[in-house]
Amino acid sequence: MTCVYAQRRALLAAQLGAGGVAIIPTAPERARNRDTGYLYRHDSYFYYLTGFSEPNACLVLGADGTSVLFCQPKDLEREIWDGIRLGPEAAVAELGVSQAYSCTELDARLPRLLENRERVWFPFATHEGLAARVEAWLGQVKGRVRFGAQCPAEQADLCALLDEMRLVKDAHEIAILRRAAAISARAHMRAMQRSARMLRAGQEVREYHLDAELLHEFRQQGSQYVAYGSIVAAGANACVLHYQADKAPVRAGELVLIDAGCELDGYASDITRTFPADGRFTGPQRTLYDLVLASQKAAVATTRAGARFDDVHDAAVAVLAQGMLDLGLLDRSKYGSAQDVIESRAYFQFYMHRTGHWMGMDVHDCGSYVEPGEPGPDSERRDPLSGELIIHRPSRILRPGMVTTIEPGIYVRPAPGVPEPFHNIGIRIEDDAVVTETGCELITRGVPVEADEIEALMRD
Ligand code: GLY
Ligand code: MN
Ligand code: MN
Repeated sequence: MTCVYAQRRALLAAQLGAGGVAIIPTAPERARNRDTGYLYRHDSYFYYLTGFSEPNACLVLGADGTSVLFCQPKDLEREIWDGIRLGPEAAVAELGVSQAYSCTELDARLPRLLENRERVWFPFATHEGLAARVEAWLGQVKGRVRFGAQCPAEQADLCALLDEMRLVKDAHEIAILRRAAAISARAHMRAMQRSARMLRAGQEVREYHLDAELLHEFRQQGSQYVAYGSIVAAGANACVLHYQADKAPVRAGELVLIDAGCELDGYASDITRTFPADGRFTGPQRTLYDLVLASQKAAVATTRAGARFDDVHDAAVAVLAQGMLDLGLLDRSKYGSAQDVIESRAYFQFYMHRTGHWMGMDVHDCGSYVEPGEPGPDSERRDPLSGELIIHRPSRILRPGMVTTIEPGIYVRPAPGVPEPFHNIGIRIEDDAVVTETGCELITRGVPVEADEIEALMRD
């Protein structure tokens, strides 16, 4: 699939401006402990433009469309230990770049590639040490000024261009995202079924048993990694937003919240389901579950081209706020209406995160949440939890091909005045949506979401 990467390079090159040149390195290898490394993961920007996943590589792209790749040289001994390398000779034909050299030549060749250009683009604040390396390369160009070389006078953040490109997914990307989503959906079903099966058989279930089911299905279906650390939270652990799968017992009568997704061919998926450990919701669990599901349905119905990113969150919050009053989670004598709950942000006690985020190569994908070119700041406020200053600007207008998660939740920690039957229940429902002209396509609905359908799946 070389052509899609060449097309993206051409699109990017056309935005660099006359005299522009861009430098895009891949990610470094990282040590885990002693001489053991973390499983290597390429840089998403670099992969987006090359489809190349070896470490120690860097792409240099000129405004005229010329592309120069630096990559690991062929090396029989290293290849015996670490695996086959593509090598610069094969890279030109395989990746469609104009030229390719060994990465050992990067420092020697880079200054010449920057010479007589006006602006050098590179991703700011994403690759540790890159800005200093660019400075060093520019320093070498300056050293040749008396021989007639011109040094670029401007540096610009390449993320500004690439983030906009990556925000709207092309057909190639959406096809992979659909496959990743389908694998993750199967993994969730597998974990739900194992939980019910083991509890029915009287066996002890731990969070890690369900995590093992997820990992099994991800790898069984060819996914290379998890897109993020899986959350498998039994009972009250579901109220810890970033809880990781651990060893807590999974008990009949309690809910389990699983937030997990695989990464497939460089693309993430991100699904949350909350289900009864033994396959039967209790009354209070079902009441809260149906409220979160209703809020998700409202958010899904709002997700379409032309709507704003924040409209989706507002739609979910409107349903949750009304539900919090109706169920007595919030005191009606203090908050007369859902509007009061929203304006005072009282709902934060039980719903403290946003309803979605961009998703793509990165689970929290790049791309601004503010509509470019619209005036701001609009308003400012403090986050009730962290105290962080939030500048509220008109949010992004959704366009076909954008991909967002839709993930409302409710997390009930025991507190005075909070009805006891709801204590320690944490529920989130998360699906991944591709924005279309008329609505959105939920690509993660291979796993059921209606309470009755979850119960039916877990009975079988
Ligand atoms: N799994 C991370 C998130 O839902 O944002
Ligand atoms: Mn998410
Ligand atoms: Mn998630």
